[in-house]
Amino acid sequence: MSQDTSAQVLFEAAREAMSFAHAPYSKFPVGAAIRAEDGKIYKGANIENLSFPQGWCAEPSAISAMIMGGAKKITEIAVIAEKLALCPPCGGCRQKIAEFASADTKIYLCDEVGVQKVMTMDELLPFSFKTELP
Ligand code: THU
Repeated sequence: MSQDTSAQVLFEAAREAMSFAHAPYSKFPVGAAIRAEDGKIYKGANIENLSFPQGWCAEPSAISAMIMGGAKKITEIAVIAEKLALCPPCGGCRQKIAEFASADTKIYLCDEVGVQKVMTMDELLPFSFKTELP
């Protein structure tokens, strides 16, 4: 798939993040990279635990890096898994991404070569939970 430079850069960041995954139990490394409203890239990987439910996904790792970097808004996010051609974020991650996204935030689903599918937040999590807050 032909892609713009910004998507390619984010893909490469997600692939690099994946190399930091701690996934000895599932052996399923995942990487995520966020470009935030400040223009910076924030990376994360899945981090598992011997007590299995205590582990967490790559996307919240990247969100945590973004928040601690002082940014609040995801403009683009790339996700990659070593063992899946495309790794659509799990349900919980969709809700976590949505917290800091807008309807047109782009989600790049990547394989080892590059971005293979582009979706918007609205497509990834349609009819989502919303209130007047905050
Ligand atoms: N995983 C992610 O990091 N992101 C997702 O959206 C789906 C699943 C991780 C969790 C676990 O460490 C491994 O993939 C296998 O489920």
